[in-house]
Amino acid sequence: MIERRSTEIIFHSVLLVKESIDLVNIDLGLRLPQEFALLSLHVAAQSIGVSARPKDETMKKMRSQAWYGREGRDGFLYRSWMKNQGWPHDLFEGRPVIGICNTWSELTPCNAHFRELAEFVKRGVWEAGGFPLEFPVMSLGETQLRPTAMLFRNLASMDVEESIRGNPIDGVVLLMGCDKTTPSLLMGAASCDLPTIGLSGGPMLSGKFQGHDLGSGTGLWQMTDLVRTGGMKVEEFFEAESCMHRSKGHCMTMGTASTMASMVEALGMSLPGNAAIPAVDARRNTLAQMTGRRIVQMVRDDLCMSQILTREAFENAICANAAIGGSTNAVIHLLAIAGRVGVPLCLDDFDRLGSSLPCLVDIQPSGKHLMEDFFYAGGLPVVLRELADAGVLKAEALTVNGQPIGKNVADAPCWNREVIRTFKEPFKANAGIAVLRGNLAPAGAVIKPSAASPRLLQHRGRAVVFESIEECHARINDENLDIDENCVMVLKNCGPRGYPGMAEVGNMLLPPKILRMGVNDMVRISDARMSGTAYGTVVLHACPEAAAGGPLALVQSGDIVTLDVPKRLVQLDVDDNTLAARRANWTPPPLPDRGWLRLYVEHVQQADKGADLDFLVGGSGSQVARDSH
Ligand code: FES
Repeated sequence: MIERRSTEIIFHSVLLVKESIDLVNIDLGLRLPQEFALLSLHVAAQSIGVSARPKDETMKKMRSQAWYGREGRDGFLYRSWMKNQGWPHDLFEGRPVIGICNTWSELTPCNAHFRELAEFVKRGVWEAGGFPLEFPVMSLGETQLRPTAMLFRNLASMDVEESIRGNPIDGVVLLMGCDKTTPSLLMGAASCDLPTIGLSGGPMLSGKFQGHDLGSGTGLWQMTDLVRTGGMKVEEFFEAESCMHRSKGHCMTMGTASTMASMVEALGMSLPGNAAIPAVDARRNTLAQMTGRRIVQMVRDDLCMSQILTREAFENAICANAAIGGSTNAVIHLLAIAGRVGVPLCLDDFDRLGSSLPCLVDIQPSGKHLMEDFFYAGGLPVVLRELADAGVLKAEALTVNGQPIGKNVADAPCWNREVIRTFKEPFKANAGIAVLRGNLAPAGAVIKPSAASPRLLQHRGRAVVFESIEECHARINDENLDIDENCVMVLKNCGPRGYPGMAEVGNMLLPPKILRMGVNDMVRISDARMSGTAYGTVVLHACPEAAAGGPLALVQSGDIVTLDVPKRLVQLDVDDNTLAARRANWTPPPLPDRGWLRLYVEHVQQADKGADLDFLVGGSGSQVARDSH
């Protein structure tokens, strides 16, 4: 009886609401939106605890409906608080909810334009019938974060993973730019495996200084050496500071950010064109809008990340990295991303698949042009097409637009052969990452031959050892430092555990007395990383690292070191007995006291595994069975 009376009340409430709407419409000549009627009906129904939401049984069941499709108290709880933002009720009725995972931060200058970019993504999501909801995650500004942004890549990935899994999200757009923001978002999202699409923020316009191009990072390293040797005035150096970064966007050299934006495209995780459109070009906004449209359809098609991130996709990324002269950091990040989706990928894959490939792109730090030139020349689709024509690209690998990557790039035209060369007449031959081994790095080390001096790729020299980067900085300018141009500089304790986070310090400054001789490169070996914008004959990521008891810890100044890149060798010419005696005197560094640092050092894997935390490898899917209250 009570139930029947309640139903009558609802019915009359609804009629009253409807009459009111009609009245308003007639009197003012306005058409109130249908949403308002639904909202009012819903309010009337909920006043007595009964749902009056219309049902469409043919609608695909969205993941978000486990929150918003609920009845009674739980449905109220999940929807009502969201309605404080003014969302009409029908948005909760089964539209694909698209999370826009935003790494915007004013402390991440390369991503500072991302709130504007997100608005264009939202346009596309609305157009396609989705419901966009933007959410922030930890942002990692490469130039601002101490001691190194890499220390927090895995932490940010946990933020991304749990934010996606815990919320009523059906599909995700990842807004990525500055170096570590790309791998951290891909890693976190991969561990959830929802339909996901990447969108990079785009590179800055070319730096311009004294009538010349000035590349992010690369120009800084060059000018630093000039100032140290008296080849540039400090006033000019200061002036250049305002000329290098003159628009929004990320580093416009082929540093880690542009490399990883290219990896996103080569993996098939973005729409074509993602890597190179400058941040300020209107077409970056167009791409954002198209990305918003596309993710809604990906949700409807249930096209998940694991269907894109296949072994073939990673092989394409490795080949593309070689062809663009990409950053050594891509090695660590791709290994970590592959680990999240369970794709078997190892350090040797980079050498086997990429080292014999040519570099096609004449861009800093390996060449002279910048990302803006790369875009005008046709961008990454041209490089991928060249790889496809040469039979290198796995053309059938699926991409987020639902097409195989080979089809996406089949007709990509090149507009400037000075910037993007052909496979037959490349910019540099055999330019991919080379993986070295030997008693200095039994688990591997990497070198980027395209950024090295050919004369040093086979070299034997006396080691000059620095126990830490601080010691290196303290001694390198000493005119009495016992070092000459044939020495091998060895830096220890800068790996994942040793300098927690594995800082980009492997491209050590050269001694001024060497630079004054006109020598601008020496062999350098460490367990550190280096900036993707850096260059030189620099052996990196020596594994196991010194702080983990790797052989690097045992090197002493005066030892003879052999580097032979063609033979893939990095060798310490010291006998085993001597090394064993040195090992007996070695003690590991103390653990950090507490907090993230402690967790990181206790669980970080070595560089040859991607430096992910051991307990983060793999994924947990997107299911969360329990309600919040
Ligand atoms: Fe952000 Fe280079 S510092 S991309």
